Amino acid sequence: MATEFVPPTEEVATLRTERLVVRPVRLDDAQLVHPHASDPQLTRYLTWAPHRDIGDSAAFLRHAIDARARGSGWVWSIFEGGQFRGVVGVESIARGRGAIRYDRAELGYWIGRTQHGRGIATEAAAAAVAFGFRHLALHKIVVRAATENPASLRVIAKLGFARVGVMRQDHERDGVWLDVEAFEMLATDTAAADLQRRVNRGR
Ligand SMILES: CC(C)(COP(=O)(O)OP(=O)(O)OC[C@H]1O[C@@H](n2cnc3c(N)ncnc32)[C@H](O)[C@@H]1OP(=O)(O)O)[C@@H](O)C(=O)NCCC(=O)NCCS
Repeated sequence: MATEFVPPTEEVATLRTERLVVRPVRLDDAQLVHPHASDPQLTRYLTWAPHRDIGDSAAFLRHAIDARARGSGWVWSIFEGGQFRGVVGVESIARGRGAIRYDRAELGYWIGRTQHGRGIATEAAAAAVAFGFRHLALHKIVVRAATENPASLRVIAKLGFARVGVMRQDHERDGVWLDVEAFEMLATDTAAADLQRRVNRGR
């Protein structure tokens, strides 16, 4: 008989890596999130518009906290030496529909612009992906990035995701139709075991 899925506690969901503490978002993170989430350059390749005010950031956090309670997503704030660095999430968790089972989620991340290129997104995302396989019983994690977002494509490559292909003119933003590259990782992939080892080493 299949063992019943038990949702992880917030304590278990606080991820510690070599340099980072990656903990589930809280409503009072709004002050930390807002300066970055309101930056149009940062949000250019994200699905959402720059936050107009602190209320938008609070709404984003409330939505993430509700999703966590429903089991449809986990979003973490990333800290380095107590300093807020950005956000990583394993979201849009789909468990099944009718006769079909998915156990699938989508990875997303952003880091404040002054801290780019220091490996923070890769380190935090590795921990989030490992958590998704280990504690959320996910079968597959997918991630997508616009073809013109090389930094994100590089993060995905460093994590070891397998390329699925290009979704041509996947969505329009600011008047431009963007091609998007799609990637996936299975819980059984060697890359998933490699990530788990990498994360355990960092503890
Ligand atoms: C994508 C993002 C999260 C990466 O964060 P980060 O902490 O800088 O990522 P890392 O340092 O772990 O890795 C970035 C890699 O991209 C490389 N890179 C950065 N800009 C690049 C460019 N223009 N061309 C090629 N490579 C680039 C870096 O050199 C680094 O690779 P390396 O370790 O081999 O040198 C960050 O750029 C960001 O927040 N962007 C805005 C939000 C976003 O686009 N999120 C992803 C949506 S799919």
